[in-house]
Amino acid sequence: VSEENQNVLSAYEWVTKLYHHLLRFTKDGKEGYQYFKDRGISDETIGAFQLGFAPNAKNFTSEFLEKKGFHQQVLVKSGLISLNQDNSVSDRFRGRVTIPIRNHLGKTVGFGARTITGQEPKYLNSSESELFQKGKLLYNFDLAKKHIRRQNEAVLFEGYMDVISAYQAGVKNAVATMGTSLTDFQAKLLRRYVDSVVLCYDADNAGTEATYKAALLLLRAGCIVKVANLRENTDPDSFIHEYGGEIFQEEVIRSSKTFMSFYMQYIKKDYNLRNEGDRIQYIEDVLKQLAMIDSSVEREYYMKELSNEYNISMDTLTEELNGHRRKSG
Ligand code: GTP
Ligand code: MN
Ligand code: MN
Ligand code: MN
Ligand code: MN
Repeated sequence: VSEENQNVLSAYEWVTKLYHHLLRFTKDGKEGYQYFKDRGISDETIGAFQLGFAPNAKNFTSEFLEKKGFHQQVLVKSGLISLNQDNSVSDRFRGRVTIPIRNHLGKTVGFGARTITGQEPKYLNSSESELFQKGKLLYNFDLAKKHIRRQNEAVLFEGYMDVISAYQAGVKNAVATMGTSLTDFQAKLLRRYVDSVVLCYDADNAGTEATYKAALLLLRAGCIVKVANLRENTDPDSFIHEYGGEIFQEEVIRSSKTFMSFYMQYIKKDYNLRNEGDRIQYIEDVLKQLAMIDSSVEREYYMKELSNEYNISMDTLTEELNGHRRKSG
């Protein structure tokens, strides 16, 4: 790490503590604290994630950091402070709750900062830099790592608050991409630690599309992929808020479905299953995907399901499937 980046890390360390302290113990941070309380986040969780509040003042943070001896150049590079046209500076995060984003070593390298008053954007993040590359980081990976290893499984969410709520609910092997699609880099990173990944994205259209894309990357990286069983039109955090952590663990995480089961449902939108031709195409499509599944038990399981549901003999399905398996090698 260059000396300049070392200084940026040190600035983030100070500011993480500062914002957390303000949220937790001062009048200035009270609305931030109340915001997390209203979302059901405990003091212990606030501490574990070092959640904070950035006061609504133009130069509170820059003055704090200047007093600590940081040069303006480092402040601007950190993305904590913005440089204005007239060369004056202003704090980037103002009047927002702050969620420190830590790298795999547990060092804060950026913030996600959420509005508590309905402003746009909902989340303001640190800008991308050498230290903060959203496509290479997984939110909470440092804390989750040992649980991920122990359980040989990771649960992947799309948002910060999903991870924080899940963690509080006892799902400690929780990580998230931060509003961007899963990258090949992240899929391979996960694969180094686990055999299996549970995808727990929001149960809306965007989340379902993202689930499909992430699943393909994870499968290609060699993971076993499962899809959490989240009720439609919720996200994991709101589900936990409404039904509690135990029901979340039992009915959403432990009841997750296999990727194939997700896929067979997911692609139905592309076919009109009342039409005979479409129905045949659909079966072909499923078989093509099934051909890529390593487990012969799993392959047979879904072939039986197809065989029963669409009244096609196992022999025919097997012949078709084997054709695809030879092609994909
Ligand atoms: P809450 O409303 O706080 O529960 O957020 P959420 O996590 O449910 O938000 P959503 O499902 O809309 O988005 C998932 C993730 O995308 C968030 O956790 C952020 O990392 C990211 N994201 C959401 N909105 C924005 C935005 O306006 N700007 C940026 N840069 N990222 C966003
Ligand atoms: Mn979403
Ligand atoms: Mn969401
Ligand atoms: Mn949410
Ligand atoms: Mn075919």
